[in-house]
Amino acid sequence: MSQTIVIFGASGDLTSRKLIPALYQLFRKGRFCEPVRIVGFSRSPFSHDQWRAKLAETTAQFAGKKFDPAIWAEFAQQIYYHAGDVGKAEDFRTLGKFLDELEVENKSDGTNNKDKGGRLYYLSMAPRFYQPAIEQLGQSGLADEQHGCRRIVIEKPFGTDLASSRELNREIHQVFGEHQVYRIDHYLGKETVQNLMVLRFANTIFEPIWNRNYIDHVQITVAEEVDVGSRAGYYDSAGVIRDMIQNHLLQLLMVTAMEAPVRYEADSIRNEKVKVLQAIEPLDAKQVQTDTFRSQYRGYTASEGVEPTSRTATFAAVKLSIDNWRWQGVPFYLRSGKAMSCRTTQIVIQFHAPPHKLFEDSPRDLGEANRLVIQVQPAEGIQIHFQTKVPDAGMRMRQTDLGFNYQKEFRGSMPEAYERLLLDAFEGDASLFARADEVEAAWQICDPILDAWKSSDRPTLYMYDPGFWGPDECREWMLAQGREWFDTCPVLG
Ligand code: BG6
Repeated sequence: MSQTIVIFGASGDLTSRKLIPALYQLFRKGRFCEPVRIVGFSRSPFSHDQWRAKLAETTAQFAGKKFDPAIWAEFAQQIYYHAGDVGKAEDFRTLGKFLDELEVENKSDGTNNKDKGGRLYYLSMAPRFYQPAIEQLGQSGLADEQHGCRRIVIEKPFGTDLASSRELNREIHQVFGEHQVYRIDHYLGKETVQNLMVLRFANTIFEPIWNRNYIDHVQITVAEEVDVGSRAGYYDSAGVIRDMIQNHLLQLLMVTAMEAPVRYEADSIRNEKVKVLQAIEPLDAKQVQTDTFRSQYRGYTASEGVEPTSRTATFAAVKLSIDNWRWQGVPFYLRSGKAMSCRTTQIVIQFHAPPHKLFEDSPRDLGEANRLVIQVQPAEGIQIHFQTKVPDAGMRMRQTDLGFNYQKEFRGSMPEAYERLLLDAFEGDASLFARADEVEAAWQICDPILDAWKSSDRPTLYMYDPGFWGPDECREWMLAQGREWFDTCPVLG
């Protein structure tokens, strides 16, 4: 049986930069168990061949050395284009007809049978088009599962607050059942994020210490070296909470803090993840003052598309508590920013300092205590930091580490997150996709922060210079709590 992916927003950046290169890589590696056709849908008037030619250029650019013209030529035979407008019923009717014709198998006995293959509708477009696209898919009968499974993949942002995400879920559920909905957070497709589950649940040595008895706090940092660049128009209304914290950082938090699922299966995993968010008491207005940090890099307001008076935060730090048996009293610090020192995503599990200073040189503060650092990207790996006696130096100690590095261990480049996620969506595995209740629970945590940041007694907006770790005040805020950010750029190569 075959599969067809229909990409709405086919002429957009995400399609050429991520989706088509990921589909090409899956084809090149022979990962599709069944034939896959790709149909682009957008308003631009392309013929099939024009779209194929355009994608050949962009895929060669984004797939780099892995682009092989001969393999591409074979892959491109399954690429098609259908021009249309997501608001027009007639365009969905003609799309349906086109898909039906494409999916008819020409049997050798001369009879034409309807191929009962699956369809994946991918919304790769601005969020304002989600609602009309979903409505048209429903009205045109294209969501109907009578002739095979029909799934919809939706990109973030999934709403802009709790109310809008609930509304979007309601609109989706009028047309698609939850089992048909795949909400993408590409962080879950990263190998290192999946490996976090393997580290925790396929080993026995970490579990006994993965709790409040051994862990002082957890830091989750997603630092980006790039600034907002050409996306400033979108970014200025989103800001770092909506763009990064509500989705990517809370996903990392959930995977770090969740209990072991009963089975490695979508609902068991997502049940455990959502329980983590449910255990987080949203911050009240006073806590937003003391436990959040908002900041903007100098020069941000000069970006095209940004109001000169904009107060949008490009950096945030948030301290959250997970009120359950395992994590009571262990703060989770989430931090993300643009225009920082380097690109790094890391999860730092900071253990307590030893209770008794046996050696003169014993670790005195947390900075010298044990630490497990999960390097999500770009120097993917894991390090354990511990004290070691310096040879021939009495009982002097130094912090050293045991390291695991993906490049050294497995060689070859890491697959793009979209490869794994697209394959899972084709195969109907929603384990790495966000469920409706999960997205809403994440907004429940972020809404009070966004509201308080808009209110009259909002916390100060600190400024920081591009190329550093955010504002000095944030470092001092951490020091005042007896803790220190782990500000280290990963060593590449
Ligand atoms: C996107 C955000 O979801 O994630 C971007 O909208 C951000 O602002 C990007 O740059 C980061 O993704 P990655 O995979 O490069 O860490």
